[in-house]
Amino acid sequence: MTLKDAATDVRQKAYAPYSNFQVGAALRAASGAVYVGCNVENVAYPEGTCAEAGAIAAMVAAGETEMTEVYVIAGSPMPVTPCGGCRQKLAEFGKGDVRVTMATTGGVEQVMTLAELLPGAFVPAHLARD
Ligand code: THU
Repeated sequence: MTLKDAATDVRQKAYAPYSNFQVGAALRAASGAVYVGCNVENVAYPEGTCAEAGAIAAMVAAGETEMTEVYVIAGSPMPVTPCGGCRQKLAEFGKGDVRVTMATTGGVEQVMTLAELLPGAFVPAHLARD
C-alpha cells in the first residue's frame, strides 16, 4: 500500500468532533513497514493529539525508530503543514533529508524535507554540558 493510500484510509478514522478537521498521517520506517496515525481530540482541548504523533507512536511501539518518508493528508483547501510540536517530534526520528508530503483530499501535494520544516531543530547535541 502506498503512503498516500494508508494516510487517506486512516484519516477516515480520525476522532475530531471539536474541530471537525480530520487528519491522516502515514510514515515509512527503515524496515519498509508503514505506520499510520490520525488525530484524536479530547473535550479538554489541549489533550488532543495530532495524526503525526499517532503514527510515530505506532512506529516506536512496533520497535522502530527511524523513518524514511512521511505523508500527511487533510480536507483543507491547501496542504496542511505539521504543527511546530509535530515538526520536533518528526525530527527526532528522521534525518533532515526525509521528505514530508503534505496533501489535500482534493489532490494538491506539497513536498518539503524535515530540515526545511524545522531549521535549527533542537537536537541531542544541545544537551551536552560544558
Ligand atoms: N492536526 C493534525 O493532526 N496534524 C497537523 O499536521 C495539523 C493539525 C490536527 C490537530 C487537531 O485535532 C486538528 O487537526 C485541528 O487543529
